[in-house]
Amino acid sequence: MKQYDNVVIFDHPLINHKIAILRDEKTSTKEFRELVGEITTLMTYECLKEGVPTIEKEVKTPLERCTQRVVKDNAVAIVPILRAGLGMVSGVHVLFPLAKVGHIGMYRDEETLKPQSYYCKLPEDIEEKLVLVVDPMLATGGSAVDAINLLKERGCRNIKFMAIIGAPEGVSRVAEAHPDVKIYVSTLDRCLNENGYILPGLGDAGDRLFGTK
Ligand code: PRP
Ligand code: URA
Repeated sequence: MKQYDNVVIFDHPLINHKIAILRDEKTSTKEFRELVGEITTLMTYECLKEGVPTIEKEVKTPLERCTQRVVKDNAVAIVPILRAGLGMVSGVHVLFPLAKVGHIGMYRDEETLKPQSYYCKLPEDIEEKLVLVVDPMLATGGSAVDAINLLKERGCRNIKFMAIIGAPEGVSRVAEAHPDVKIYVSTLDRCLNENGYILPGLGDAGDRLFGTK
């Protein structure tokens, strides 16, 4: 895959270890859900080391007064792409318990692989926040591109996108459609199959998270 300034592939040993269990077809729904949350927390820590709105705060230690940089209140919003993105929300909330959550509902048409939008409910003041769009799977990139378009139409200007597994085709598509959005992917897989599934991937993330198949 071409190199992009706005793409970070983590390839971190701890995350990779958890992804191996996630991929395993024998992993239970419960364990799958827990792992998605844990991986998301690790990714969030890394992804939010830049771009988070901060302010100076005065603190009185037992010895003296000092100023300390802290994260601004209400600075971050989480936007999962339904359904599978929902599995990542709790992992971000571990670090940002007060982050508001917007929902964008999209499913891929099985024939055309084009995303179909069916729901959108966003926090009122979302345009003022750093918006963290989450979806475990970045396959053709269609869902991510459309979700980000929708957020930009609502005035959002500070957007990051986080996926656990990405296909080169999808990562390139989002990187080129939205060069101002930083894309964080834990692991880059080989390619897509003829049905638009990521190889080796982990199957259908929504079904594995919610036990629907
Ligand atoms: C999956 C996944 C992404 C999308 C990725 O959702 O969670 O949203 O596919 O594919 P793309 O990059 O080709 O757009 P799906 O459409 O299966 O819906 P679901 O989460 O409701 O199962
Ligand atoms: N959506 C999934 O859930 N899995 C894939 O491999 C591709 C899209």
